[in-house]
Amino acid sequence: MQTLPFLSFLLSHMFSADCYDWSSLKLMRSHVPYVFSHHPHLKQLCAGDEECPYKEYSDVGKACWGFEPDCKRHFGNEFPTLDCPSERSKTRYWRQGDFGYVEDRLNEMKSRQLCEPMHQQKASLRCTKDSTMCRARNLYVDLRKANERIRSREKLVLEKGEIGGFCNLKENALTTETKVKRDLSAWGEQLAPYVGLDFDPFENPEKHCDVTMDKPVIFVQLDFGGNLYHHFCDFFNLYLTQLANNSWFGTNVQIVRWDMTFRYGELFGSSWKAFTDYDHVSMREYQGKRLCIPDATFAFLPRMAFGLFYSTPLEERCRGTGLFRAFTEHFLYRMGIVDEFNVPTSLPSSSPPRIKVTFLDRGASDRYKVFRRALNQDELIAAMEEIPDFDVQVIENRG
Ligand SMILES: *[C@@H]1O[C@H](CO)[C@@H](O)[C@H](O)[C@H]1NC(C)=O
Repeated sequence: MQTLPFLSFLLSHMFSADCYDWSSLKLMRSHVPYVFSHHPHLKQLCAGDEECPYKEYSDVGKACWGFEPDCKRHFGNEFPTLDCPSERSKTRYWRQGDFGYVEDRLNEMKSRQLCEPMHQQKASLRCTKDSTMCRARNLYVDLRKANERIRSREKLVLEKGEIGGFCNLKENALTTETKVKRDLSAWGEQLAPYVGLDFDPFENPEKHCDVTMDKPVIFVQLDFGGNLYHHFCDFFNLYLTQLANNSWFGTNVQIVRWDMTFRYGELFGSSWKAFTDYDHVSMREYQGKRLCIPDATFAFLPRMAFGLFYSTPLEERCRGTGLFRAFTEHFLYRMGIVDEFNVPTSLPSSSPPRIKVTFLDRGASDRYKVFRRALNQDELIAAMEEIPDFDVQVIENRG
């Protein structure tokens, strides 16, 4: 009799969904159903797991961010776009700065398998138009000679054959999609030397690989890390990349900067923890080596033409995007930033702490056009000054 409860405990744990660690999802609760839609096995696992904290989502219908085909329950429904002058302008805005942007990029990828695995081959390369984002399987990168060619700003330039995969290359397609060679904007220069290998390095890694990466690798090219605006172009596009990769926001990934710099100077470095459990490294980490990377992603870049959110053209007057809303919620959640009071005016009244707000006025320098000033700055300041618990200060930043 004594052993029975223990036995049933043991059995239920042996057979219950091999104990998935739900806390490893690190997802804002309200985002879980959207991630479940892209990972039906997780949803199933949850349904069968006593310990799953997201039970209420395991039997609801399909929820979607908004870029998926045939989907009605959009994330964006709760954060609608307002004030567009017309339906056409609203549609354009959707493609410029909302989930429509992701939809378009994913559609581009569908028809752009640049290297195709045939028969026993397992490598592949698939990109968006102009290679703004790419996914590679069983990627091979040979850095044995790259050192000799390091040029300005410790740029890494490969030669034909120093990157590739054991798959059937569509040369014309690769040429077309790598025409745009602009750093921080497209992967054209980095991927143009990609070749279809005539051997499979992964078949005999002892012979062909000096380093085999055990985690998925995300290649990035980073913008200026010294200010919030530019560095968040990096982080936002990392989010976009994860969204485009099956909405998988796993942090067990290695971020690798595609350059040969020793270090990258940055403020806001703690933000990385929203995306990865590990420090980012540059390719210098692997200099002189041959790399074998089973799972490689070339991330959306911070200064893509018509990209997000560096110089993004937007329909006038429209406001509100579910995509940016989702990023904001996800990022704040992962950073552990909680909005306890929801509205600042509802701070507890017993000796309410004063909140110091410093507003950086992007002052007009005589030499530059300044595009990042808040157009309604006066209005904003006036509104903030009305909030009793705020001490508002405006500082001019003539950068
Ligand atoms: C992309 O998504 C798959 C799951 O669908 C995951 O296994 C893989 O690690 C992801 N890649 C990156 C770079 O996050």
